[in-house]
Amino acid sequence: KKISILGVPMDLGQTRRGVDMGPSAIRYAGVLNRLEKLDYDVEDIGDIAVKVDNHEEENHTVLKNLKAIAKISEEIALSIQNIIENKRFPLLFGGDHSIAIGTIAGISKYYKNLGVIWFDAHGDLNTEETSPSGNIHGMPLAASMGFGHPLLTGIGGYSPKVNPENVVIIGARDLDKGERELIKSKNIKVFTMHEIDRLGMTRVMEESIDLLKKKTDGVHLSVDLDALDPHDAPGVGTPVLGGISYRESHLAMEMLEETKLITSAEFVEVNPILDERNKTAEVAVALMGSLFGEKLL
Ligand code: ARG
Ligand code: MN
Ligand code: MN
Ligand code: MN
Repeated sequence: KKISILGVPMDLGQTRRGVDMGPSAIRYAGVLNRLEKLDYDVEDIGDIAVKVDNHEEENHTVLKNLKAIAKISEEIALSIQNIIENKRFPLLFGGDHSIAIGTIAGISKYYKNLGVIWFDAHGDLNTEETSPSGNIHGMPLAASMGFGHPLLTGIGGYSPKVNPENVVIIGARDLDKGERELIKSKNIKVFTMHEIDRLGMTRVMEESIDLLKKKTDGVHLSVDLDALDPHDAPGVGTPVLGGISYRESHLAMEMLEETKLITSAEFVEVNPILDERNKTAEVAVALMGSLFGEKLL
């Protein structure tokens, strides 16, 4: 019942500025109060400093801000380790999704068989070879499984962090060619919007929970707010139509809460500059309410 909040105002993993204000927007939306009401001991340890030294970046890679992101990822991993050593639940606010490289690097040290639930419109399974953009926020899940540039896969001094068998992606509706190939060759479990429509979120969550419960000793939840429909979460840098509804997303969080499966979580890609009156940060906070046990009756 102890949570430590860590903000990572990272915007180097993509090219739309403003996502570095995500942690402030989420705090402004009242997350501390919300969790304290649920009787958690909540500590906000503030933000990790995000800096880029342009002189350090080299031109012979398409990966934008590679060195800066690698350095910050190491810092994230160390902060996470500190939180876990203190027997607290790590709850991170992004920042773009590249922060997950550091989060998972820190967490996986403590689990033999870490599971990951990845809510996203995208796969974030690109590598240097397959990326259409060079944006590292499109790569964190691949890097965590050991695919990609060694500066990204090697954070924390080891690789891989997660076995592809222990990964579930939920909400996908925009995958690049190389991502589809990786999904097929590694047999990664993906519930696209097609499966969500067809089976309903209840069964998607039941199957996801079933799959991970058996094989893992901890599960990290990574929520990219662009998993939700842009109608409900407009403040994201890479919106894709036809996403998870507000209601489905809450159901998913509630079902995770019931199973007590989740051992760490992050909420990323909130960009208040692109948002409508902080709506997306408010949605993120509401989802955290459900994830941590808010109930109407
Ligand atoms: N697949 C695209 C790329 O590699 C978009 C990635 C979007 N990722 C995200 N975390 N929003 O550039
Ligand atoms: Mn591990
Ligand atoms: Mn995404
Ligand atoms: Mn993402």
